[in-house]
Order: sequence, then structure tokens, then C-alpha cells
Amino acid sequence: MGKTIRFGVSLDSELLDKFDKLCGEKSYQTRSEAIRDLIRNMLVEKEWDETEGEMAGTLSLVYDHHQSGLSQRLTELQHDAHHLIMSTLHVHLDHDNCLEVLVLKGNGKDIKELAHRLISTKGVKHGKLGLTTTGDGLV
Ligand code: NI
Repeated sequence: MGKTIRFGVSLDSELLDKFDKLCGEKSYQTRSEAIRDLIRNMLVEKEWDETEGEMAGTLSLVYDHHQSGLSQRLTELQHDAHHLIMSTLHVHLDHDNCLEVLVLKGNGKDIKELAHRLISTKGVKHGKLGLTTTGDGLV
């Protein structure tokens, strides 16, 4: 971790008003913390664009377990990629619907491919990949 540097930012007053309002809504104590998070998000997005190194993510899937063969298909796809899946959580949302959350770690390209394969499986109602980082290289 380097030393802390202060720098000035020139902004249109209306844009700054909107930023301050947003910081309040998101419970940031200072503008600096919000700007640090914006920079970190940009760095993580860049990591994912390059998808070279080890990345981490979460995938949520919602599906109806009555759909013929669906649970079995999703399980097979996950076993094929077991090296990427650190943990899974299965919640029975109601009589019909299940929510599954997968914690993924590995090559970014492989994580995206697995996520696309699971999300596009017939019968999956909603799927969302949350892209994050292993934290290496971020301060
Ligand atoms: Ni279930």
C-alpha cells in the first residue's frame, strides 16, 4: 500500500450535487471513500475484460425444480466444472422455485463460460453473474 496522495478534481456543480446525493443514498461517509470504490470498480472491470488471471464471482440462478430434468442438468454442468466452484447454496424459495448461489473462483474466461452455460439452460428463469476479484492487487 502506497502513501496517501490528495488531489483536486474539477467538476460541474450540478454533477457534484448529484454525486453528493448519491454518496448520501449509498451511505458513504466521505467523497474520498466513494471515489476510491469507483476506481476499484473500474480496476476490477478491467481485470474482467482481460480475463487472464484468477478471478472470483458469484452466480445466482432461479428455476422451477418441477421442470423436467432441469435440476439434474444443472448438477451435471456444475460437476463438469467442479474445480471452479468453491461453494453452493440452495434455497427453496417457495413450493416451486429454487434459488441457487454459486461462489466461483478461477480463470475469468472459464467462469464466464460456465455462467453462460448455466444461465442459458432451458428452464432457468433468471441468472446473474456478479463479477468480483480475489482482492490481489487492490488496496
Ligand atoms: Ni429447491
